[in-house]
Amino acid sequence: MTIASAAGKAILFGEHAVVYGKPAIAVPLSRIRTTVQVKSLDPGSTGVLIDAPDINQSFWLHEADGDDPLASAVRITLDELSVKAPIDVHLTIHSQLPIASGLGSSAAVSVAIIRALSGHLGKPLEVEALSQIAYIVECIHHGTPSGIDNTVVAYEKPVYFIREHKPEPIPISTPLNLIIGDTGVSMKTTIPVSLLRERWEKDPGTYGSWFEEIGEIVKEARTMLKVGSIESLGVLMNRNQAVLEDMGLSSLELQRLVRAARESGALGAKLSGAGMGGIMLALVEPDTIQIVEAALRESGAKQVFITEVDG
Ligand code: MEV
Repeated sequence: MTIASAAGKAILFGEHAVVYGKPAIAVPLSRIRTTVQVKSLDPGSTGVLIDAPDINQSFWLHEADGDDPLASAVRITLDELSVKAPIDVHLTIHSQLPIASGLGSSAAVSVAIIRALSGHLGKPLEVEALSQIAYIVECIHHGTPSGIDNTVVAYEKPVYFIREHKPEPIPISTPLNLIIGDTGVSMKTTIPVSLLRERWEKDPGTYGSWFEEIGEIVKEARTMLKVGSIESLGVLMNRNQAVLEDMGLSSLELQRLVRAARESGALGAKLSGAGMGGIMLALVEPDTIQIVEAALRESGAKQVFITEVDG
């Protein structure tokens, strides 16, 4: 039997603009994980059985729809590992990550499946190859992903990421206390991403300058992470959120949580991931963690995750 897992992720700065070639910064959430167990099937059974009890799914790979996300992750992995002969295995997938929420659930599921299958088949992968296979799976479901999700999940390190460039691990000199509030509104990444593309195509000047502005915020944030200026990072998060709001990527639920976090003492707060639902992120000092957590819950957060990121 082989067990492998993968972390969730949060984008600290630069979502969306990263699709248009600007830099972004993302961190792994190592305590919120997806786990995949692979074991050989009992003699007499043949095929690949996939169980995901958290989402009430159990099916044989050969019977799955062509676009089923779990089945495509398995098919692409077997293809990329050049597994020609049929294999008889049972995969069980468990995830602590809410789906379609901005926490990288699809990348984490893919990376955990790839790790578990490659380990079970005795074909270990370098992290770059692992990330690349997960990117192929992401492309099937998310259209034109930048690649940031599969990268930060596969490397499991804070990264400064520019599309089609080698990711740069970022040293984080002072640990970051993050509180994540989940609006409970699930939003498939493709919806905000394609909406933004339509808006950008209609008005490339305005949207292009917003992407530029986000790019500048991300560069400043990289410097502030290196020197450990937590207050400045909070200010930059608020600036990034303002541009995301201008671009129409926030929502009433997100606004409510962002405001609650700021009013209860967070240094900064913004949506994280694709937006229009999903999660928001607040940067806090250790002594305000509980106050901000309570404020988020009172303002309607369906789940709250508290995490510390260092690098
Ligand atoms: C999704 O986690 C991040 C986006 O920037 C899309 C992408 O980078 O592919 C919204």
